[in-house]
Amino acid sequence: MIRSRLSLAILLSFVVALLVGAAVFLYMPTATNTTVTSTGKALVGGPFTLTDQDGKRVSDADFRGKYMLVYFGYTFCPDVCPTELQVMTSAIGQMDKAQADRVQPIFITVDPERDTVENMKLYVSNFGERLIGLTGSAEDVTTATKAYRIYSSKVKDDGSTAEYLMDHTSLVFLMGPQGDFLRVFSYGTDAETMAKGITEELQKSGA
Ligand code: NI
Repeated sequence: MIRSRLSLAILLSFVVALLVGAAVFLYMPTATNTTVTSTGKALVGGPFTLTDQDGKRVSDADFRGKYMLVYFGYTFCPDVCPTELQVMTSAIGQMDKAQADRVQPIFITVDPERDTVENMKLYVSNFGERLIGLTGSAEDVTTATKAYRIYSSKVKDDGSTAEYLMDHTSLVFLMGPQGDFLRVFSYGTDAETMAKGITEELQKSGA
């Protein structure tokens, strides 16, 4: 049961990745010149205000100037989330140090009910020093998941327990220094490929 749900979540993630990829392709300016032109259309991303693992309120604007590497999940996730967060941590670890310093890995919960600030603090400490964990009210989280087009849904494992799993989109988004969407990494991307992809985007902007 868990396996099939995970598979569904992964399949959904691939579909979303494909759609995002297709949308980006369609909206990309066809001109090949290097002038940066805004299409004026934010496909993924947008404003959010959440609470970090130290209890501090932070918004997307606080990360301007940094490249945000954003992943949505929940701390009780049995395997998909920890695997993906490990890949993110490892990818940043493989990058050139100066470039890696410009990337801020961010984990946003889809399960604010259980992911308290305290739980988040304990959890993110498993993934190196740099990962920021964000939680908040249900409304705070919904604003963020809507902005990033994240699907999430509570599922009961069986009737005998109060525990539950969350089906959720498993994608890693790379956002630029202005909060603009740059690239999405699908579930299963290895750390080396992710590090290469991030570095390519940094180099495009001369970072
Ligand atoms: Ni998960």
